[in-house]
Amino acid sequence: MRLADDETLWSSSVVANRDMNRERGLASYRRELGIDVALPPGARWVDLCCGSGKALAEAARDGVVITGVDLVDHHVPARAGLDFVVAPVDRWEPEQPVDLVTCVHGLHYVGDKLGLLERAVSWLAPGGRFVANFDVASVRRADGAPFGRVLTKALRDNGFRYDNRRRLVSFEGQGTPRLPFDYLGADDRAGPNYTGQPAVHSWYEPL
Ligand SMILES: C[S@@+](CC[C@H](N)C(=O)[O-])C[C@H]1O[C@@H](n2cnc3c(N)ncnc32)[C@H](O)[C@@H]1O
Repeated sequence: MRLADDETLWSSSVVANRDMNRERGLASYRRELGIDVALPPGARWVDLCCGSGKALAEAARDGVVITGVDLVDHHVPARAGLDFVVAPVDRWEPEQPVDLVTCVHGLHYVGDKLGLLERAVSWLAPGGRFVANFDVASVRRADGAPFGRVLTKALRDNGFRYDNRRRLVSFEGQGTPRLPFDYLGADDRAGPNYTGQPAVHSWYEPL
């Protein structure tokens, strides 16, 4: 099996795909993540794989700091309280601690998904929160089999919550989780996932 490295993945037709939904508004974000995106004055929100940033624009106002990060430069216009960064989330990091980190249907396309989970949590301010759509079945062993419970246990042992039914991963508070897996590469020919869209499997070796 040929596994794709990051650069290959970012230009793959599965990731640079025009058919995926990049236009979700704030109400869809609330529904998809099962949280109320409430931003008190001074709050910092980072949205990874933000797409057009429609949801962020709806929440933006003076006094909050919202940053949307996406590979594709196809955003709504920036406005007070809202900035966009065109970058792979795999390489980007915020300059200051963040109160809320979200990723709505973006992890499905990322190579080192577990590395991103670890990094996103390490950015949280005291009392901060991370939540993302995440399908544990997209994380595979070197023989292609899913890790299943081994992975959900490792997530829980590291302070994450994983909602199997909603396929949501979350973390509250500060932390520096270390998930015991070594990233091997990505399979962008894995086919559709539970969303019905072609997605990327990420292969790991247990440590
Ligand atoms: C299904 S769309 C979701 C967009 C947005 N969150 C929404 O719900 O409207 C997935 C997004 O992930 C972005 N993406 C995929 N891989 C990425 C990566 N490695 N770094 C940054 N963005 C990425 C794609 O460009 C796309 O905009």
